Amino acid sequence: MAKIISVINNKGGTGKTTTVLNLGAALQRRRKKVLLIDLDSQGNLTSSFDIDAPKVSIGEVLVEGGSIQDSIQKVGKLSLIPSRSDLLDFETRLANEPGREFMLREALEPLTSSFDYILVDCPPSLGILSINSLVAADEYIVPMQAENFAFIGLDRILQVTDKVRKRMNNRLTLAGILFVKLNPRTKFCQAVVKSIADDVRVGKKMFDTYIRQDIALMESAAFHKTVFDYASKSHGSEDYAHLAKEILKANGQEA
Ligand SMILES: Nc1ncnc2c1ncn2[C@@H]1O[C@H](COP(=O)(O)OP(=O)(O)OP(=O)(O)O)[C@@H](O)[C@H]1O
Ligand SMILES: [Mg+2]
Repeated sequence: MAKIISVINNKGGTGKTTTVLNLGAALQRRRKKVLLIDLDSQGNLTSSFDIDAPKVSIGEVLVEGGSIQDSIQKVGKLSLIPSRSDLLDFETRLANEPGREFMLREALEPLTSSFDYILVDCPPSLGILSINSLVAADEYIVPMQAENFAFIGLDRILQVTDKVRKRMNNRLTLAGILFVKLNPRTKFCQAVVKSIADDVRVGKKMFDTYIRQDIALMESAAFHKTVFDYASKSHGSEDYAHLAKEILKANGQEA
């Protein structure tokens, strides 16, 4: 059974897409079968690969009952459900759909025996698409930067995930807060990390791994590559490999 992980933060530019891409690649390198889902109409995850438009879009799957099998594309050893620009229209149409929060969960059911990990890249909002990812997920990861207003955003995410857990998906758990673009030597970063670690609602669910600031992470996506294919010895490669190891260990799959 696949473990479904939603990568979510309503703030923009916090490393969601970078995390889905490179954590997915790192898990695949550890011989896991990985499916990535681009649930953001910006399509940044999709643009990280050099692919043609899919036969069936994720919007068609969610709203019109299109075949999810036909929306999957093979990209190297990874599988991807890309986003298409029409996702924005489908998001509006989803608002009128009975059971609209459950559409992704329902769509993913036939796939859960084919993959070990399904990683969902959310848009920078807590709208209906992000809620769908939380209803479908076993766990969620919140990537965030160590900055002044990190707290405020986290409040909002924890409120929403609490409601989803109570009302629609009681197995949903926080896999962890993931600090990204971190410069661990600065006192300010250290202080923000400590204050989040001490937050009782986070309950120590913070990854030991943090992702350092690394230009290779930015460049690799622009060259349609994972950081492992682009710069195998970079900090980005090292950190995402470490994160995959931590996640596998938490799932009892590897020491
Ligand atoms: N550790 C890092 N070091 C340096 N740059 C990074 C790092 N992680 C991400 N970036 C860069 O920061 C920018 C934002 O990252 P990313 O697109 O992953 O965020 P996002 O949360 O998916 O954004 P959005 O909310 O717009 O979907 C990108 O240009 C990405 O290449
Ligand atoms: Mg993104």
